[in-house]
This record gives sequence, C-alpha cells and structure tokens, in this order.
Amino acid sequence: MKILIMGASGLVGSHLLQACQSRGWDVLGTYNTFAQPGLMPLKLTDSDDVRSLIQKSQPDVVFLPAFRSNVDYCEQNPEETYQINVVGCLNVAQATRDVGAKLVFYSSDYVFNGKAGPYRETDEPDPICVYGRQKLEVEQKIAELGENYLILRITVVYGHEAQAKNFVVRLITNLKNGHTMKVPQDQVGSPTLVDDIAEASCRLVEVGATGIFHVAGPDVMSRYQFALNVAEVFGLPRENIMAVNTPELGQPAQRPLEAGMVCDRLHSSLNWNLRGWADGLTYLKHTELI
Ligand SMILES: NC(=O)c1ccc[n+]([C@@H]2O[C@H](COP(=O)([O-])OP(=O)(O)OC[C@H]3O[C@@H](n4cnc5c(N)ncnc54)[C@H](OP(=O)(O)O)[C@@H]3O)[C@@H](O)[C@H]2O)c1
Repeated sequence: MKILIMGASGLVGSHLLQACQSRGWDVLGTYNTFAQPGLMPLKLTDSDDVRSLIQKSQPDVVFLPAFRSNVDYCEQNPEETYQINVVGCLNVAQATRDVGAKLVFYSSDYVFNGKAGPYRETDEPDPICVYGRQKLEVEQKIAELGENYLILRITVVYGHEAQAKNFVVRLITNLKNGHTMKVPQDQVGSPTLVDDIAEASCRLVEVGATGIFHVAGPDVMSRYQFALNVAEVFGLPRENIMAVNTPELGQPAQRPLEAGMVCDRLHSSLNWNLRGWADGLTYLKHTELI
C-alpha cells in the first residue's frame, strides 16, 4: 500500500510513520519546520506543491495530521491559521479525491462545546473556539467531497515525541526538574496514548472503514487527576502539581470543559480497544525514552 503522511514530524505523524513502516507499507512523509531524516519539506499553504506531491506519488491513502494545532495561537491568529488549517487541508482533501485515494483527517473533541461530554459521533458539534470551528469546517467540507475518507477525532494525546510538546512529557520534565506546574481540575477529557492512535488509524484503513470515528482512551478524567496519575506511575512528587480552574490560566481560547469521547463505533468496527491511562503510562515508562 502506498501512503503519504502530511505532517510526519509531529506527535501523531511520527507514530503513524512507524506504524505504517512496520506493516511494510511504502511511506512518504512531510515536515514543515522540524526536519527529520527521510521526510520532505512541505507547507500546507503551498497549494501547487501539495497538489503536485499527491499527483506524483499517487498514494492509496493520505494521512493528514498536519495542522497549526496550537489552540491559543489559532484564537489569536484566526486569518493566518485559516489559510493553513482550512484552506490548506481542503486543498489536500481535493487533491486526494482527484487521485482516487482515501483521506484520513485528524480532528478533535474541540468540535463540541464541552457542556455534556463524553461525546459520541452522533452528538451535535458546537465549537466554542477558533481551532474547534476550523476543525468542524474542514470536517464538513471533506464530507461534501465524497465518501472515501476517515475523520478521526482525537484528544489529550500523549507519548514519546521528539519535539517534547505534549502535556505528559512537559509534566514529567517539569516535575523531574523540581518545577511546579499548574493543571486545570475543571477540564475533563480522555487521555490517549499516541501509539494507539497510529495503530487504530492503520487498522481502520485495513478494514476499509469510512466516516467519523472517535479514537480515544477509555477513561474520562480531569487533567489534574491525569497529572496525579502520571506522577504516581513515574514516581515523581505530586505536591508540585497545582490544581487550578481554567480561568486562572488566562488562556486566550475558551476550552470545552466537560469533553472526552465515547468510542463504541471504533470498538465495534475493530473489536479492539485503546489502552487506558494505567497501561498507557506504564508502557511509556518502560520504553524509557523520556
Ligand atoms: N495532540 C493532541 O492532544 C490533539 C488533540 C486533538 C486533536 N489533535 C489533532 O491531531 C493532529 C495531530 O496532532 P499532533 O499533536 O501530532 O500535532 P503536532 O505535533 O503539532 O504536529 C503537527 C504537524 O503538522 C505540521 N505542520 C504544522 N503547520 C504546518 C504547515 N503550515 N504546513 C505543513 N505542515 C504543517 C507540523 O510540522 P513541523 O512540526 O515540522 O513544523 C507537524 O508535522 C492535528 O490536526 C491536531 O490538531 C491533536
């Protein structure tokens, strides 16, 4: 199978790369600013380059984790990020359809308003921040282009990451260095090991699934509780984790507070479950890359 991964230098993309390669698939990957061996530079805003790469490589599947995914940056730079996240992703979607390939787009539980999570695929989206509105617009327009797509909504992703941006890696680094970290106790979600997102993505492609899937770990918990669990598993001091409410963080973008996702559709399609927090964090600890 020929695979193109747009954004293979990021958290999800780098694990997708490994999961595809371990299946013996023929994989090409791109990066934007974080150059990695074997990856090609590509900006989502360079529409001709994007189309020409898809035309030349003739993939069977295009995985699209690339996105300007900093929620507060999107809030403060709506026009700039619209060009990348909406116009850029839709250009990929159109070009993917034109070569008859399947598109796998990564969305988020931020398409919901966070008043009544955890959410199912059938729940009505109602985004409350720029990032969430951009995700929803891309989702809706992908669906208008045809049926050969997967939209995978993911959330609170953690795991080994060369750029060390994700919450768990930052928390562990801070606690190991004796620093404190403020963590919201009112943001509820479903922590998800990135390796499992990559595995679920490949399995969904293998079974020929299409449409929207929620792809998240089985637990629904506050960010603060998750942080305490990380400290426990990694043997780090929990006193340095400061519980706060979201307004105290002064974040520019509103967060959906009661979020998280129910993944029954994924489970029934694959007969397979993502790991919960205990197994996920234990796996991370034993792979000792942090
Ligand atoms: N992580 C989470 O908790 C989470 C939760 C919900 C949804 N998601 C979504 O899942 C997807 C993957 O997330 P992630 O955590 O893997 O994100 P990430 O680590 O920030 O990776 C984003 C990828 O997109 C690339 N990229 C950024 N701007 C680009 C541009 N203008 N042109 C081309 N490529 C560009 C980055 O390249 P460089 O690194 O080389 O610059 C990187 O490869 C994103 O769509 C994100 O919104 C993530």
